Amino acid sequence: MKKLNLLLILLSLVVIFSGCNQSKKHAPVKKELYGTYKGGEVYLLTLTNKAGNLLKLTNFGARITWLEVPDKEGNKDNITFGFDTFDEMIAGDRYFGAVVGRYANRIAKGKFTLDGVEYTLPINNGPNSLHGGPDGWHSVVWNTEIPEKTEFSTVKFTYMSPDMEAGYPGNMNVEATYTWTDNNEIIIDYAVTTGKKTVFNITNHAYFNLHGAGNGDILDHQLVIKASKFVAVDTFLIPTGELRPVAGTPFDFTTPHTVGERVGENYDQIILGKGYDHTFVFDNNEEVDATVYEPVSGRFMEVISDQPGVQFYCGNFLKGIIGHGGKPYNYRSGLCLETGHYPDSPNHPDFPTTVLQPDETFRSRTIYRFSVK
Ligand code: BGC
Repeated sequence: MKKLNLLLILLSLVVIFSGCNQSKKHAPVKKELYGTYKGGEVYLLTLTNKAGNLLKLTNFGARITWLEVPDKEGNKDNITFGFDTFDEMIAGDRYFGAVVGRYANRIAKGKFTLDGVEYTLPINNGPNSLHGGPDGWHSVVWNTEIPEKTEFSTVKFTYMSPDMEAGYPGNMNVEATYTWTDNNEIIIDYAVTTGKKTVFNITNHAYFNLHGAGNGDILDHQLVIKASKFVAVDTFLIPTGELRPVAGTPFDFTTPHTVGERVGENYDQIILGKGYDHTFVFDNNEEVDATVYEPVSGRFMEVISDQPGVQFYCGNFLKGIIGHGGKPYNYRSGLCLETGHYPDSPNHPDFPTTVLQPDETFRSRTIYRFSVK
């Protein structure tokens, strides 16, 4: 009899504990074949959180390709740029949702010097090198891991970038881990090491439209960037070296302003940039570094980063791209908040350093958090 009681107690404990685990468990990550590229398998990975909101990723460029969150009425829509098929993705814009490297943003004339050695990079943007050249990390097939026993759905992409890839020194091991939380946060964790001293700058290049991707422009989006200064640029969007105070300029987003309000102003940096396409220097004295609010849908996005700045780009060069569901992504129909270092830092010794040493591991986290109000 005693033995039976003990057995019953043990059995109920097992049931209780497995029940606890069950309630904590997230939906499994769905992995489907999406295409092949240069002999590598490309997957579409669907992460589902507790509310049933979806984040879709692909290991081609470690990209975000779909982000489905509700508006204030509870209607769900995809709010990031992407393509329905892999063929459309490779034929379409290169950077939608991608992890960009080795150097996100521009390097003047595609040249920099490290320890007396001059390095030459591919030129792909006017006279400059942009986003690690045409075959940067946005256009390679990354390895895909789906770690087990994580609190939320998680996908880890890894890539070994060989020495002198796109002209940059050092074998680099790159990890970009995406976590999709029950609080509708995309957490991106980067971890990067190098075999030789090098320079690099990593970012995610997602475009957002809080009305829904392909549903008009982003000019009514209300933006806050906690930045008292921005990086002034020349006509090729290369920093002049000046970190200009935003006060009294169309670049003052320390209080909310819509994107459209001052984007047409007759102000030198607006004219040179053809709109907003500038790095803002984070004040870094609050948890949240930037927010975007779109009043019709009520969608609200927060950006949290440990990086020194963010490239705010309002889609000035977008034109006639057909994305998910046949919807057009036109001029200023999406905005990017690309966290990272300033452009051309290797040629500006007074900017925060982008040098990585062989004995270091670069770790950085950016969070995009979505809600409604
Ligand atoms: C740049 C833009 C460029 C875009 C390419 C942004 O990071 O600042 O000038 O057109 O990337 O998608």
